[in-house]
Amino acid sequence: ASAPSSSTVENGEPSSPVEPSDGASVVDVNPPRGTRDFPPEDMRLRTWLFDQFREVSRVMAFEEVDFPVLESEALFIRKAGEEITQQLYNFEDKGGRRVVLRPEITPSLARLVIKQGKSVSLPLKWFTIGQCWRYERMTRGRRREHYQWNMDIFGMPKVRAESELLQAIILLFERLGITSSDVGIRVSSRKVLQAVLNMYSIPEHLFTEVCVIVDKLGKLTREEIEKKLVTIGLSSEAVLGIIEVLSLKSLPKLEEVLGSDVEAVADLKKLFSFAEQYGYADWICFDASVVRGLAYYTGIVFEAFDRDGKLRAICGGGRYDRLLSTFGSEDIPACGFGFGDAVIVELLKEKGLLPDLSRQIDDIVFPLDEELEGPACSVASSLRRQGRSVDLVEDKRLKWVFKHAERINAGRLILVGKSEWERGMVRVKILSTREEFEVKAGELQ
Ligand code: HAM
Repeated sequence: ASAPSSSTVENGEPSSPVEPSDGASVVDVNPPRGTRDFPPEDMRLRTWLFDQFREVSRVMAFEEVDFPVLESEALFIRKAGEEITQQLYNFEDKGGRRVVLRPEITPSLARLVIKQGKSVSLPLKWFTIGQCWRYERMTRGRRREHYQWNMDIFGMPKVRAESELLQAIILLFERLGITSSDVGIRVSSRKVLQAVLNMYSIPEHLFTEVCVIVDKLGKLTREEIEKKLVTIGLSSEAVLGIIEVLSLKSLPKLEEVLGSDVEAVADLKKLFSFAEQYGYADWICFDASVVRGLAYYTGIVFEAFDRDGKLRAICGGGRYDRLLSTFGSEDIPACGFGFGDAVIVELLKEKGLLPDLSRQIDDIVFPLDEELEGPACSVASSLRRQGRSVDLVEDKRLKWVFKHAERINAGRLILVGKSEWERGMVRVKILSTREEFEVKAGELQ
């Protein structure tokens, strides 16, 4: 069995020199830094992972959609100082239009919902798998290009929508053999922060900026965060209040601090009670420090993490009820998540859960003689028409063919020999049992 993905060809190393010939310039055989090639074994792993994403989306009754990787820059211009907007791959195209390689898919989704207008029936449940580009500082599981599985719901204003999204994520983990002792999902609500800001009469327009700053808790020092909050106009009393609430990890404690009639508390309690009903309560925990770094979230937010604390967030999402109005349209309540292909593979490696994805071919057809190439084509063609995967081999020694059969896990070897063919027969060898027999060429299945 091949070991998928450990060999993903990723640039980050000095290029291996290629000898120039006849004055040709030396080509760097590595892909651009932070991007990947997918040789066959890595491609098999990627396809397998995407199949799992699709299967979970299917059982959750979501429909697949797709968008261009190239989008107009205007979709991603936001003023809250988010990291993502500073990492854009943006440029002017030959027609003078400002474009980006999308760093995320949510704005494209919003664009399509707006474009479809009244023709969409709500609630709308869409999923997509697509490549995203961010000019990131590279760390384990973070690169400049990644694929993201997104599931989003438009038109469900209550937390049952979030409870559905969480089930999808957990179903995926379960399919991959990951348990709730490997992974947890931290859940909070931006309304927690909103309630704290209200307590200190902080103006509404500072809310997004505060969210983006406090999301950096853990990445920046507490002093740096406090300084940033004071710089945008918060009193030191409010700053302390925010930091104190963000350290809460218990819902009853949050209720004690904010009171029970605060929306954030009611939403979270409801979500945790749904989690019991769905049967995934042991996967999720309340953690007020989860705020998420994207400007548009308005309610519940969540992030999945490995419990050993070795990796970056596995996936993240939340509610964004006011994104459409930032594009000049009427708002529709919405929530969703993005789940990358990088961290999850790191986790599967850590836990020894990578599947065996060795190549598998049904039959190898091999003409023993050059003049039997035509008959071999006809045998291969008939088997392929029946849906079998067939590798048609030529110009090789029999010894090579046997080795090749082992390498690609072929089920049968079909030898087209002169004397057999004259009788309308071919020789079949079952490779696992070494059993060998003749079959009428026309009856081969
Ligand atoms: P995000 O947290 O920026 O959210 O990204 C979601 C997930 O994408 C991350 O948890 C991670 O798995 C993966 N990811 C992000 N950046 C990288 C990177 N540089 N390299 C590898 N993987 C990465 C969003 O993008 C939101 N649009 C998600 C969402 C959808 N919210 C609502 N709907």
